[in-house]
Amino acid sequence: MDGNHKHIVLGITGGIAAYKSMLLIRLFKRHGYEVRVTATRHALEFVTPLTIETLSQNKLYTELFDPTEHRDVQHISMADWADCVVVAPATANIIGKYAHGIADDALSTLLLAAKGPVFVAPAMNDRMFAEPTVQHNIELLRQKGCHIIEPQSGFLACGTEGTGRMEEPERIFDIVNQYFQGEQILASKRVMVTAGPTYEPIDPVRFIGNHSSGLMGFSIADAAAEWGAEVTLVTGPTNLNTRHPGIRRIDVTTAAQMFEACMTVADQQDIMIMSAAVADFTPETTASEKIKKTADTLDLHLVKTRDILATIGQQKRDDQFLVGFALETQNEKVNALKKLHTKNADMIVLNSLRTEGAGFRTPTNKVLMITRDEQTFESELKDKKEIARDILRLVHKLTTTEAQ
Ligand code: CTP
Repeated sequence: MDGNHKHIVLGITGGIAAYKSMLLIRLFKRHGYEVRVTATRHALEFVTPLTIETLSQNKLYTELFDPTEHRDVQHISMADWADCVVVAPATANIIGKYAHGIADDALSTLLLAAKGPVFVAPAMNDRMFAEPTVQHNIELLRQKGCHIIEPQSGFLACGTEGTGRMEEPERIFDIVNQYFQGEQILASKRVMVTAGPTYEPIDPVRFIGNHSSGLMGFSIADAAAEWGAEVTLVTGPTNLNTRHPGIRRIDVTTAAQMFEACMTVADQQDIMIMSAAVADFTPETTASEKIKKTADTLDLHLVKTRDILATIGQQKRDDQFLVGFALETQNEKVNALKKLHTKNADMIVLNSLRTEGAGFRTPTNKVLMITRDEQTFESELKDKKEIARDILRLVHKLTTTEAQ
């Protein structure tokens, strides 16, 4: 059985898609997962406790203070029991509560105590889904390290068409199942990932930075760890968190610190993926006091930072695989190929800022992966977590075929 008795807590909230969660319970059970359900009161307007308990073969948990369960603090024992929590459907309400740490019922309280990964499948009216506060809350959940299972567009229960329909249960099952199965293709591999921007200080209050959020690198680190790798994530300043125990995180601020951190661990790695947006130039000196605006102009003298990717490219052994990133605004492929070869990488992942929905500060990306022998693999525009898996799958394929 692929689920291997892993424990799923399914949180159901009050949306019409709650009826589809019954199928989700069946899918988990059929594949060997143990399922316990917590449903909000509104969810029980759509589905009945009898259906849930019959399908999950477990008692439904709805009340934070249940007089029949006095021996156990249910939300804590359930959070301890869970290998993961899946909230499907997730209404705007539970997303908002979880994003802001509000715990006023069984599910919201349990979520704050959850230890493992949390998957959230939003389902709501398209205007509600597009509403800036809801989008902001979803972004906060992403930053917490939650897996957001994007809703689909199509016919909505309110009679309109738009984006907000909960992803189909089969697909939600696949995503969670893949998390646990993950093929473990990277088991026993050591993977270093760089992520985020760097901040180069001008004076004690100012710096030169860039728009990188770190999401692409964090997604790669998460996906590699899910597939069994021992991951070292060297990251510049971001708001992101990772929840996977297989990730060792090293926080840095400047390009020089990132260089040092990478050099310390590079030797022990099998795969190195350099997705950080490292500053190419840094102020030659940092003013010790805040620079005052006494003059009409200010000259900053910048010097080149050391190129981490190129340095590792020069030093790496034949058994190490190096992936660079290229962010281009023009002559994309030509420039990316030049980077691939001059920096001696084994593969380069090209992002174009010209592609809508790709690049900085978007949850999605579209990339062109180019190998050392100039084979190209183009992805669709999709969630960065999915792009991360595409990159790792290709790296796995290239490292296993090259090794033969
Ligand atoms: N990179 C790095 N160290 C640096 C600068 C860049 O490791 N000091 C890495 C990035 O992490 C990325 C790749 O180099 O994997 C490409 O970075 P990019 O800034 O696009 O390329 P540059 O070589 O700096 O070229 P240019 O800025 O001229 O496009």
